[in-house]
Amino acid sequence: MNKTPDRFEPPVPPHHTAGPGLDLQAVLRADSVPPPATLLERSDYVMPVVPIPTARYTDPAYHELEVKHMWSRVWQCAAWSFDMPNPGDTIVYRNVGQSVVLVRQHDGSIKAFENSCPHRGIELCASDSNIHHIRCPYHAFTWSIEGDCRWIPTEWDFPQFDRNNLPLRQVRCETWNGFVFVNFDDNAKPLLDYMGKMVEQWECWDFTTSRYRAVTAIVKCKTNWKSGMDAFLETMHVTATHPQAIQFAADTASQYDVWPDEPHFSRFHSMTGFVSDNSLDPLAEQDGFDLFTGMYLPESFGTPDGDLLPGETIRDGIARLTRQTYKERMNIDTTNVSEAELVDGNEYLLFPNFVLWPSWSNPIFYRFRPGNGPDESIWEISLFVPYEGERPPSGPIIELPEGGKLADLPGFEYLGFLLDQDVANFPQIQNGMKANRSGVLNLARYSDQRIRHYHETLERYIQGTI
Ligand code: FES
Ligand SMILES: [Fe+2]
Repeated sequence: MNKTPDRFEPPVPPHHTAGPGLDLQAVLRADSVPPPATLLERSDYVMPVVPIPTARYTDPAYHELEVKHMWSRVWQCAAWSFDMPNPGDTIVYRNVGQSVVLVRQHDGSIKAFENSCPHRGIELCASDSNIHHIRCPYHAFTWSIEGDCRWIPTEWDFPQFDRNNLPLRQVRCETWNGFVFVNFDDNAKPLLDYMGKMVEQWECWDFTTSRYRAVTAIVKCKTNWKSGMDAFLETMHVTATHPQAIQFAADTASQYDVWPDEPHFSRFHSMTGFVSDNSLDPLAEQDGFDLFTGMYLPESFGTPDGDLLPGETIRDGIARLTRQTYKERMNIDTTNVSEAELVDGNEYLLFPNFVLWPSWSNPIFYRFRPGNGPDESIWEISLFVPYEGERPPSGPIIELPEGGKLADLPGFEYLGFLLDQDVANFPQIQNGMKANRSGVLNLARYSDQRIRHYHETLERYIQGTI
């Protein structure tokens, strides 16, 4: 009988079971530019191996439990604050039947209002815009952008309302690193307390001065919102889902960190520039490097720049070309950016659905929200691109048509091709979950532990123990 590992048993480093192996921390320490201290930490905490019921992904009743007990109490990312720079700029955020309108105030702060008229309940704002007043589209009750009532038409007929005491109802709203979060629980603890140690781990990455939102794609997915998230919480899927990448992705050497008493975030670090242990047919270094340049940096493919220099590893070569490309395309000097940030994948999940990558090569942010019921989700994925000097304006928000490809959208390029490969699995995942008569998923002990981590937190919300 299998022994269930002790909760505090140290992790089995992936390389113990994965061929010749790599020690991620040793690689990071040997890189030419040292990474921030937080990337030189590794958690020794491992989640217990417990099966996950498929019903959490497929059962409408579980979807309702999530709505009632979890979505009503967690901090949800509603907007990127630089998308609403001017007083009166509004963004409408909807999720699982809730609707709020965020409004930039004259003093520069942001308020979130319940997006429902106290008269007959219509949404006050239907879409993002810039407004001087919040005016109900149905019968014209009007509020200032601060939420003070300014006009009640046919006022004599509303004995229950006092214009001087009819403010719009506010929803909790706080900002971190340029992202605006809302929480429908008036008694929720502050956002930064909710984030825990993630706040200090992010002190080295300030998006408010270094990144802009270049483009956002909205993808309607035929899978549960958690299946969508699961597709990006581990790198074990690279061999099958992104087979072209195993010649330069150290998928089996990734580090997955969760911490005791930190229920709301987890992270991984995935290295670039090594042939995967799962490759049955490893290419020679130059051939692997050619594969990388052909996909990621085609302007260097087949040129002298695309040749590895004497003594250079694939990782060295990728770092060299990435620095050169940032200089040539965007005039950004990356001399002091570590290889760990420049070419690797670093990903944080803030429970329940906020996923942010400080990586330079995969500069993405996304959130998955439920659709109508457990079988649908909405995935909004943005590129948060580094810049120097004046912040460029935010880019377009593009809804992908059914069957459309991220690779065809401006800016996504090869990254879009990779993400399309992930999306292609979604309908099959949902179908397979329903076909599973055992009723459980059996996750990998280490590589999948971030999935078990957020499931444990989700269950605590549903049981009311958090
Ligand atoms: S529903 Fe808003 S004023 Fe009537
Ligand atoms: Fe993937």
